[in-house]
Amino acid sequence: MAFKERVFSGMQPTGSLHLGNYLGAMVQWIEMQKTHECIYCVVDLHAITVWQDPKELKNAIRQVTAAYIASGLDPKKSIVFNQSQVAAHAELAWVFNCVARLGWLNRMTQFKEKAGKDRENASVGLYAYPNLMAADILAYQATHVPVGEDQKQHLELARDIAQKFNNDFREQIVEAGYEDGILFPQPEPVITGPATRVMSLRDGTKKMSKSEPSDMSRINLMDDTDVIADKIKRAKTDMESAPPSNLDELKARPEIDNLVGIYAALAGTSKEAGLQMLIDTSKEGPSIFTGFKKALTEVAVEKLGPIRAEIVRLMGDPAEIDRILADGSARARAIATPIMNQVKDVVGFVRS
Ligand code: AMP
Ligand code: TRP
Repeated sequence: MAFKERVFSGMQPTGSLHLGNYLGAMVQWIEMQKTHECIYCVVDLHAITVWQDPKELKNAIRQVTAAYIASGLDPKKSIVFNQSQVAAHAELAWVFNCVARLGWLNRMTQFKEKAGKDRENASVGLYAYPNLMAADILAYQATHVPVGEDQKQHLELARDIAQKFNNDFREQIVEAGYEDGILFPQPEPVITGPATRVMSLRDGTKKMSKSEPSDMSRINLMDDTDVIADKIKRAKTDMESAPPSNLDELKARPEIDNLVGIYAALAGTSKEAGLQMLIDTSKEGPSIFTGFKKALTEVAVEKLGPIRAEIVRLMGDPAEIDRILADGSARARAIATPIMNQVKDVVGFVRS
């Protein structure tokens, strides 16, 4: 069976969303909404794989929802909901816990990073996290998954799980009416744009992240104009006396490469054009980066200012956000429940 093209993606309601989330994922989400059926999830089940204060978690779920909408997701068109309201995610994740092999999960680099040195003390949920992510996607038989580059390995695992499930249960899947024996599609990662990996403003070799202790390392969607200007002004550059003259030279200078990538993504232009802008403004002084940083601040404020204002406005009416999540959850359930029922039949559970 050829699967209908369907998009699924999600973000965790932990900490505040930043420019990496926006450029690495959200911009693609909004683009795909124009051409595809899209399902965008606030993954609260994923969030509790590390400790979350319950009061803050509720607020964070609403704030991420507000950020989705403020960034341009249309909850009437796309499905916007939080994961815990649709039981199929947890149900299918359990089945996948029994399909995925320990050896596969042992290879996941994100677990190693997040668990750190004290691995014995990490939650079992953190370890099984990629299985839940596979369930998120496959509960909708989704075919396309727009994410930042750091999720590539998890997507590969989701593909392996889909394939093993299809193989293990081929006979039953055919009986259920899927002639080619394929219940789950192979979901495609969609990793595009000039900023699939936005790096820290303090260290061009580390990715911009919610969990980095220094707030100066990232631009948050909730930062105001002055904070954005200050963070860009203090963003790390290098000691070279001339700007890179081509893309190869740019690549060798990670901090500059990152800033040019951010500029290009925000301005909706190419990296080449961003680099040209840096070259053109480098004579303005006092430093070769002064003019470029001014232009970067302008475009960042122009793009992020209205998003911040809209998040603040939406957060003024939490009941309205909850209504959006309730509506999205009902629509998500309508898709996932019949698929989950097929999974139960195929696995051999009794449904009555
Ligand atoms: P998370 O904040 O881990 O829930 O990530 C949500 C989405 O943002 C995922 O698609 C990530 O790949 C993406 N993302 C997070 N940090 C970055 C970054 N520094 N650069 C690009 N994409 C990112
Ligand atoms: N693991 C993703 C992240 O940390 C979030 C996520 C959970 C996700 N489920 C997903 C992304 C399904 C895409 C599809 O960024």
